Amino acid sequence: MVKLEDTNTKNNRNEILEEGIKKGIFGSIKGREIDRVDYDRWMGGPRGPEKITFKDGSAVIFKCDIRHYWMADNPDTAIREAIVYQIDKVVGLGLVPKTMVIDDTVGNVRYDGSVQEWIKDARDGYQIEKFTNEERKDFERLKVFDFVIGNSDRHLGNVLFTGDDKLHAIDNNACLIIDKNEDILSFSDSVIIFFSRNVIHDMRHIVELIERFYANKDTILNLIDKYIHDNTELAKVMVESRINYLYNMLKRDKPFPRKYREWRKGLEEEVQNILRRKK
Ligand SMILES: Nc1ncnc2c1ncn2[C@@H]1O[C@H](COP(=O)(O)OP(=O)(O)O)[C@@H](O)[C@H]1O
Ligand SMILES: [Mg+2]
Repeated sequence: MVKLEDTNTKNNRNEILEEGIKKGIFGSIKGREIDRVDYDRWMGGPRGPEKITFKDGSAVIFKCDIRHYWMADNPDTAIREAIVYQIDKVVGLGLVPKTMVIDDTVGNVRYDGSVQEWIKDARDGYQIEKFTNEERKDFERLKVFDFVIGNSDRHLGNVLFTGDDKLHAIDNNACLIIDKNEDILSFSDSVIIFFSRNVIHDMRHIVELIERFYANKDTILNLIDKYIHDNTELAKVMVESRINYLYNMLKRDKPFPRKYREWRKGLEEEVQNILRRKK
């Protein structure tokens, strides 16, 4: 059974656990018969990602909770994988494969971490020649999504393509503040390049996504508040300030700034607004 951290009272913990199971944030692979497990060990890592194939032919990628094997004060990356899937659902992005946190013992092997549905016959972004139109749109949506959740690991190896106009965003644990010393205003400049070289206001798929983030802000902040138990407040301020910034820029009907320091200034203002309101 999945354990919640002791920052919550016992009753509260049970409630969160129950709700988490209902939402599919916590689950189990116990009822499924394993056919085989394939893995590459990381050099120096505790336990690399493992592909678990079940007897029914389906498969998942399992990534262990490194805190149980390595350093206890590492962030909880498994819950981040699962919450990013939930956020994807809330805003209707539909790019993150189904992901949940498990803690099962099968035979005498413990599976404690995240499992994500395995995408069959996929090629990653390094292996394709060019995007189809639909893939390009999804890739652009993903840029907005990654910016809001503060994902620092979206290289082309973490984007899979299945040749049916569909993109899959995998490996989503380096987000929602994985380090308390992380600068919550920092992000890659590819975000600015994208926003300033396009007329975002005329890109329906981007406008829609920003509006959905804004409309569902409370639901998203609530998910982070309940389930992300480390760096929680920082993660909330980061996500909220980024949603507010994008939304307010959109409503202003002016182009997005081209300069990094203008973005930082704008984000910093949103952060200050949030902190002031909280006092
Ligand atoms: N959902 C998935 N479907 C198919 N392949 C996956 C999936 N998740 C991961 N993989 C494969 O496993 C590799 C390692 O998983 P990833 O989540 O990227 O972990 P790491 O943190 O080691 O980069 C990926 O580069 C990809 O080849
Ligand atoms: Mg990866």
